[in-house]
Amino acid sequence: MDHVNELGDALPAQASDLIHVEVCKTQNSIAKDGEIQNLVLHYLETVASMKYGDIYTDFAGQSDIFTNNIDHIVISESSNSNSVSIDKSKVKMMIHVYTLNTEGAASEEIEEEEDISAANHWILPSSEFEGLWENLIFDHDVKQQLLNYSSTTLLFSDKEVDPNIIAWNRVVLLHGPPGTGKTSLCKALAQKLTIRHSNRFRYGQLIEINSHSLFSKWFSESGKLVMKMFQRIQELIDDPSALVCVLIDEVESLTAARTAAMKGTEPSDAIRVVNALLTQIDQIRKYPNVMILTTSNITGAIDLAFVDRADIKQYIGPPSENAIFSIYHSCINELKKRQIITRANLPDLRTLKMMRFQENEANSTSFRLLEVARKSCGLSGRTLRKLPFLTHALFLQGCTSFTQEQFIAALSRCVDKQLADRELLANEIQKQYDNNSSEHLLTPKKSVSGEETEHIHTNGILESR
Ligand SMILES: Nc1ncnc2c1ncn2[C@@H]1O[C@H](COP(=O)(O)OP(=O)(O)OP(=O)(O)O)[C@@H](O)[C@H]1O
Ligand SMILES: [Mg+2]
Repeated sequence: MDHVNELGDALPAQASDLIHVEVCKTQNSIAKDGEIQNLVLHYLETVASMKYGDIYTDFAGQSDIFTNNIDHIVISESSNSNSVSIDKSKVKMMIHVYTLNTEGAASEEIEEEEDISAANHWILPSSEFEGLWENLIFDHDVKQQLLNYSSTTLLFSDKEVDPNIIAWNRVVLLHGPPGTGKTSLCKALAQKLTIRHSNRFRYGQLIEINSHSLFSKWFSESGKLVMKMFQRIQELIDDPSALVCVLIDEVESLTAARTAAMKGTEPSDAIRVVNALLTQIDQIRKYPNVMILTTSNITGAIDLAFVDRADIKQYIGPPSENAIFSIYHSCINELKKRQIITRANLPDLRTLKMMRFQENEANSTSFRLLEVARKSCGLSGRTLRKLPFLTHALFLQGCTSFTQEQFIAALSRCVDKQLADRELLANEIQKQYDNNSSEHLLTPKKSVSGEETEHIHTNGILESR
């Protein structure tokens, strides 16, 4: 089991041979990172079966120096072999040590008088985003691909690869239906990049630009707002030891602003604002310590000028049956941890696969959960994460503790109700559309329920247009 210090050292090795180990220090730890790395290396040597995606939090029996300084350890996930045992003799370990910032979000109020919150700002790694990455579940290796692309971007910038010879950007665009985890993924990515690149960057900054407040009713002022905001961002970028991630959520509001301006329904200032923003993005994306992360849920309507700037355009769709199973499985585990569901074994998908999906007494509850997952297809991650709460509120009132079988049966009823409500709502919306077809064309594709109504057939990383 080798240990590497820098990403550059690690790159020649096969990606599959490299394991990232993330070590979160306790808040009061003053131990040096090198000391922590040694402690962790020794600890991992004693772990009997180390698996991809493992999270260690219980260090009973370890020395005081260990428990006083180490809060938890995360072993990197692997898209196709999560939960698979790692052959320690064949891997290289890269140990990243970090301390969480517990301050939370600061709101950047650009306009003194109007009290406009134009951006939120976090110092990374932030306790607010801890575990976010691990709890986002996608089918393909979306997370790994995004991390790899972003890491290559940072490495090329750091090594000063000539952008005239090899072209790359620092702009990522995640697009897809509402509630599929795009914004969360951007935030989690910023946090992961800060942790994984802690050798290069001392800390990270995440600035979440509130596009709506920029493009809404303050059009005449928005040009100035954009300038002021980017002046602030520039100050952050000027510290080369900071990784600055700028998140521009719902970039379609940019297009909406431009279209409205062209139709004459908004002041032509809108165009100037959009152009100011694009110019500013062009300015800051030249810096080696900047990543620009953007999201949109109306793919067809994103400003082409904007789409062109993104190298990585990743479609994020609703979770598949397997991903839904894993989301429900994680929710049930959380309720067990909090003693709301009584403890019992619930074999996961990997175990079912190993048993070639042969149902028996010991795994039948997992098969019931699989059936619920199957009929939940089409629901967004946002809805799925809410369903356990609704299940309790609607179907398990009066019970403070129940078995997982009871919970899964109630969850199944809750999914039926959700689907029925959704259909009712869809019919209602359809009626409205039929009554006013011109309005139909103008209405954004996000439904009242916040559920996805848009179907996009692209998948994976798209080529730059
Ligand atoms: N694939 C997923 N796995 C686990 N949780 C998910 C997933 N997708 C969404 N969620 C949950 O849904 C919540 C909402 O996600 P988020 O706001 O990031 O979605 P979004 O795609 O940005 O939505 P919108 O387009 O409406 O802005 C998150 O808190 C997350 O817990
Ligand atoms: Mg979002």
